[in-house]
Amino acid sequence: QQEFKIAPSILAADFARLGEEVDAVLAAGADIVHFDVMDNHYVPNLTVGPMVCKALRNYGIEAPIDVHLMVEPVDDLIGQFADAGASYITFHPEASKHIDRSLQLIKQAGCKSGLVLNPATPIEVVKHVLPQLDMLLLMSVNPGFGGQKFIPYTLDKLREARALIDESGCDIRLEIDGGVTADNIREIAQAGADTFVAGSAIFSKGDYKAAIDAMRAELAQ
Ligand code: DX5
Ligand code: ZN
Repeated sequence: QQEFKIAPSILAADFARLGEEVDAVLAAGADIVHFDVMDNHYVPNLTVGPMVCKALRNYGIEAPIDVHLMVEPVDDLIGQFADAGASYITFHPEASKHIDRSLQLIKQAGCKSGLVLNPATPIEVVKHVLPQLDMLLLMSVNPGFGGQKFIPYTLDKLREARALIDESGCDIRLEIDGGVTADNIREIAQAGADTFVAGSAIFSKGDYKAAIDAMRAELAQ
């Protein structure tokens, strides 16, 4: 089992003070910055692009930035996010005409690559490209908005994904995104996740350290 990592989603942060917010969650013990990119096309919401990622790097953020692309098409943004300092770039297979090519573009750009599966997307889509993945992200809500409820059947999917990854012998982080809280994180970890995105469960709390500590305490049990 890989080490557990907590990845606060900036979607729930105060965008007017984004640098300070990201600093604050990292100081509170977060491992990875989860950066949600929405285009009002692949998903019915609009957020931020490479300029804001670059601004975080210029501000001095050194932690890994996990860019979750909810955009269609995908390929044009890969180079821009790599130049903006992205560490991971993940995309939804439905949003790319040529999944293998998009994965290659991410690697060529010097970033870690990943695929994101919506709740109802079957896991089989990743089977042939496992060696090209550094991360597999399972959505436990429908993408587009923070603050939704965790969809329970994704626990079964996590177990399937964990088995697939272990069988492959590939070094792939298994990330879960949507509705993660201190109340369900242990069950989610037991199903096989090792990387946990949490937006509202962290940023809606006044004390980010208390929120992250509560999650880690559950994971330690
Ligand atoms: C949803 C985003 C998530 C979201 C998670 O489309 O991909 O990263 O911000 O937010 P919470 O943790 O509030 O469900
Ligand atoms: Zn996300």
